[in-house]
Amino acid sequence: MADTRVGPAKKFAGSPKVPGDKSISHRGLIFGALATGRTEIENILESEDVQSTARVLTGLGVQITKQNGKTFVDGHGPEAFKQPAAILDCGNSGTTMRLMMGVLSGVKHIEASMTGDSSLVKRPMKRVAEPLRLMGANFELTQNDFAPLKVIGAELQAVNYELKIASAQIKTAIMLAAIAAKGTTRIWGEIHSRDHTERLLKHFGVGVESNAKEVLVTGGQKFTANKLNVPGDPSTAAFWLAGAALMPNSNLELKNISLNPTRTGFIRVLERMGVVIETDLTETIPEPIGNIRIKPGPLKGVTVEEAEVPSLIDELPMLAVLATQAHGVTRVTGAEELRVKETDRIEAVAQNLRAMGAVIETTPDGFIIEGPQKLKGAEINSFHDHRIAMAFSIAALVADGENLIHGSECVAISYPEFYSILAELTR
Ligand code: S3P
Repeated sequence: MADTRVGPAKKFAGSPKVPGDKSISHRGLIFGALATGRTEIENILESEDVQSTARVLTGLGVQITKQNGKTFVDGHGPEAFKQPAAILDCGNSGTTMRLMMGVLSGVKHIEASMTGDSSLVKRPMKRVAEPLRLMGANFELTQNDFAPLKVIGAELQAVNYELKIASAQIKTAIMLAAIAAKGTTRIWGEIHSRDHTERLLKHFGVGVESNAKEVLVTGGQKFTANKLNVPGDPSTAAFWLAGAALMPNSNLELKNISLNPTRTGFIRVLERMGVVIETDLTETIPEPIGNIRIKPGPLKGVTVEEAEVPSLIDELPMLAVLATQAHGVTRVTGAEELRVKETDRIEAVAQNLRAMGAVIETTPDGFIIEGPQKLKGAEINSFHDHRIAMAFSIAALVADGENLIHGSECVAISYPEFYSILAELTR
């Protein structure tokens, strides 16, 4: 296990290239595998989570190659998937496992087992199996909720399903199963999570109708291979935006970042906290992309409620750190999903902030932090969660003394270059 020391910084300036979006990279590989023809992906995220998706698809006989920095998926559709010779290992990646549950549930000639690391085998999978079972899918889950799990491909029927958890992973699994099912599937309820699947299915030639009330997917459609340019990941950009917001004389510009409105909640929340952010949109289809400039200012506390949570779910650990430096109360509610991420992120944030000398009140679905508070350098437990390691590395920039981040190698799940870029920005 690696430990990294991060000390307080005097400077925070630069224009680092932000790696490709994780959610879009997973989908690019999977949709490419479901398509017929060669899909060419530019700027795919090179990280452990995306490698997990590539490994699972390769285990199903899909050919994925790299050349001149581009990734090529030679798809022949799900009909050409091969029976995997071994259990499919999803590593730390919930997106890989949940999306592949949706894909494989309707591939009749395949029986596949999937597992993951010690974190992934503790994360709930019944939430995906349940709607898919209503469609006719066949799953065997450990203790009826967990991986290792088995999918036995089956004939699927469309479903009319009320989504009760605002999760893009569940929504996507149902949509992918729906493409293999007979009839038109309707998903309604908590559907306002990230909409990359809705956008990218169209990019791969699959018709989807979606509005604020429902998502409609008709079965029997075919994917067509396409080119995909992956924008920078806004959840990764968030760590640099937070660093710039915390450091008084910072100067930061980020280019080619996803400005998909279902992902820009953190930018909107920073603005409410008093940070001036300029964005300019350079592309809109299939995904909105643009540049971001940020001018720091005194931070004030902010309220984030349930409706907004999906648009910044992965950024909430970083927000908690910012809240300690903001004047007034920050309150986050409706974020109980944080408890079932790579670790229980509410407890991980609370334990590490307390180690740094801060006061935080946790609730079942969020936290309350009153600032400003002084942070002192401390030993940080990453809980092998990349976003906890990165959030508390940024916290160290404004702490009194160094943070020692235990298990810092986990940043490679989404951002292997995190520490080298941090060193450049603060040099
Ligand atoms: C993801 C969706 C989010 C997010 C995860 C990636 C996706 O999870 O936390 O990092 O790619 O669909 P939920 O939407 O399931 O909460």
